[in-house]
Amino acid sequence: MTQPNVNKKQNNNKVVNKSIHSNKGKFELKKKPTQQPNNDKINNIKTPMEIPKEIILQKESLPVFSAKDALLKNFKEHPTVIIISETGTGKTTQIPQYLYENGYKDKGIIAITQPRRVAAVSISKRVSQEMGYELGEEVGYCVRFDDKTNEKTKLKYMTDGMLVREAMLDSSLSKYSVIILDEAHERTLNTDVLFGLLKSIQKRREKKHPISGVYNPLKIIIMSATLDAELFSQYFNNAPVLYIEGRQFPVHIYYTEETQKDYVDAALITVLQIHIAHLTDKSIDKEEQEDGGDILVFLTGRDEIENLEKLLLDRIPRLPKGAKDLIVCPIFSALPQEQQMKVFEKAPKGSRKVILATNIAETSLTINGIRYVVDSGAVKSKIFNPKIGIDSLNIIPISKASAKQRTGRAGREFEGKCYRLYTQNTFEKLDSSSIPEIKRSNIANVILQLKTIGINDILGFDFLESPPVASVMKSLELLYCLEAISEDGSLTELGKKMALFPLDPMYSKTLIKSIEFECSEEVLIIISILSVESIFFTPKEKKKEVEDVKKIFFSPEGDHITFLNVFREFQKSKSQQQQWCFDHFINLKSMVKVVNVFEQLIKYCFSLKLPIVSCGSDFDRVKKSFIGGFFLNTAILQPDKKYKTMVDNKEIQIHPTSFLFEQKPQHILYNELTITTKAFARNIIPIEGSWLAEICPKYYGTRPQQQQKSTPNQTSIDSFTN
Ligand code: CDP
Ligand code: MG
Repeated sequence: MTQPNVNKKQNNNKVVNKSIHSNKGKFELKKKPTQQPNNDKINNIKTPMEIPKEIILQKESLPVFSAKDALLKNFKEHPTVIIISETGTGKTTQIPQYLYENGYKDKGIIAITQPRRVAAVSISKRVSQEMGYELGEEVGYCVRFDDKTNEKTKLKYMTDGMLVREAMLDSSLSKYSVIILDEAHERTLNTDVLFGLLKSIQKRREKKHPISGVYNPLKIIIMSATLDAELFSQYFNNAPVLYIEGRQFPVHIYYTEETQKDYVDAALITVLQIHIAHLTDKSIDKEEQEDGGDILVFLTGRDEIENLEKLLLDRIPRLPKGAKDLIVCPIFSALPQEQQMKVFEKAPKGSRKVILATNIAETSLTINGIRYVVDSGAVKSKIFNPKIGIDSLNIIPISKASAKQRTGRAGREFEGKCYRLYTQNTFEKLDSSSIPEIKRSNIANVILQLKTIGINDILGFDFLESPPVASVMKSLELLYCLEAISEDGSLTELGKKMALFPLDPMYSKTLIKSIEFECSEEVLIIISILSVESIFFTPKEKKKEVEDVKKIFFSPEGDHITFLNVFREFQKSKSQQQQWCFDHFINLKSMVKVVNVFEQLIKYCFSLKLPIVSCGSDFDRVKKSFIGGFFLNTAILQPDKKYKTMVDNKEIQIHPTSFLFEQKPQHILYNELTITTKAFARNIIPIEGSWLAEICPKYYGTRPQQQQKSTPNQTSIDSFTN
């Protein structure tokens, strides 16, 4: 191939939007001539390990490879470049390596941000293999509570949130020569904040440092999987947009005839039908019959994935004769890393993988070998209610853009099929694209971080797209009630401390409150446990046994204290931790993570000279500390045994996994609200209603304890924005 396969587009040239709907058009695969590995180039790089030939061939067969020279030329000529291509082109794994090989690493670290920690970890692993380095040396990753980099690290895959945190410590991000904002189309809150921060940092670094005379410009690369790049380009002073042509085979789309009540059940039936179709359907072509092709199912979260996994494992032994083996591979963020890597392993001959994934497989991770996609049409999304100021996790319909991305996963290597578990009519009614997180999230954390960096005027900040004024106001109000900012909007001493912890403001406030209530040890442990998804695991046939064992730890004082009991017993088990976890249905890996987070939080406390004290068994102190942070997440028992939230009188229920499901205390405080068909509160502690005004006078001080609806201190709100 002589012509680099890249289209440069300056500003408003028309872009051809490629639909993957098989009925509307076919796309040709541009076959690339098999190329011999270019050993000259590879020999230039000093690598401690020999790179296997298959890896070199695989790298060179990716669509991005033929665009390499054109990309490098543009990087040289422009301070900011926007790259658009379909998922699986090789952007995330290859482009950082091109920069590394071409001198950019000598000017500083090359950072690649990812919205999800799973992607940062797994992709850095892959890239370190491709380059022949141990992970954590030349190539590393940095995610919350887990930093695998050292002083040699030059390619740093990190979550967007970690880079925002680094900007709080070094507002010029001076150690980075290039920052790649990957998966920009996802428009996560942190990536959106980085757009604004990087734009101003780049401007500052354009000039020589006034004192030292050092010239250290910052190169910004924006990578996205969708075509709406105009917004990015305009924001960065009409930066060039490069389109790398990907490969896309036709994908046939099937819809259900009727709306499905239960998409997990529908997914089960669909997966099994796909898996045994070749036994009855002779029209299935030979290639498809022989190589099978893997199945990728999109669900919304861990619960659904584990549920479908269980249903599939039940059915697999009863598959008809002649069916291949079916290997079930779940992938979600709380899954241990080795298991996450399993999705990338090729299924043994004569078997087929079915991958049960969250949205992570939509664009962040490219999994080879997929021929079938089963799309639930749903996604779990954090939604902020600016009226009352709290976030909830809601399961909502995906956008058309997401549906198309999901479909595209089936046509990367061969013709594929996508089974949408919803009707065509439903599809037509979907929103065309998802709403950016900044427009639907609580931005209290962002405000706290920006204020720490020295950016006080939040509404005046140069956002790619501004958050709604109502959200800014409500988030400022929350920070005021948390005592992180004062009436004039400036950070308080408490707020400065809160910002230093890698925690959401409600958690950091709880932690700081626990110093006052002399129970910081317990609160640190509980927060560490709440930072992992679950410490229990429930093998499918042992539900009853698990329930019995869990009772050992139960405390009527609430889920938090029950978790604390688990931690204390785990600590006592010392040399027999593995056996102890096995016997008590506790996930050892999660517990190891909890201990690690606990130790890191202790270090933060030490550096701030905050004392670590235990309250013994006086757990009211723990509860009061949590009220300090989570006073908005409270509810009162109703005569019908349901609960109503105190801030807006909405009906909620205790999630059945809570230890207080049966007990139903009068007042509860919860850490999380998940809204599916009903609103479920999780991680619950009973509280005394009278404590609210005592601990949160700013919110509950002068009014009755129930149904707080109006905002406190209205007169001071205006001054917050300055
Ligand atoms: O970023 P983009 O979607 O353009 O592609 P990528 O993530 O760089 O993926 C390029 C190739 O690397 C794909 O064929 C992936 O399947 C492969 N890959 C892999 O084999 N193992 C990983 N852990 C990550 C990527
Ligand atoms: Mg990518």
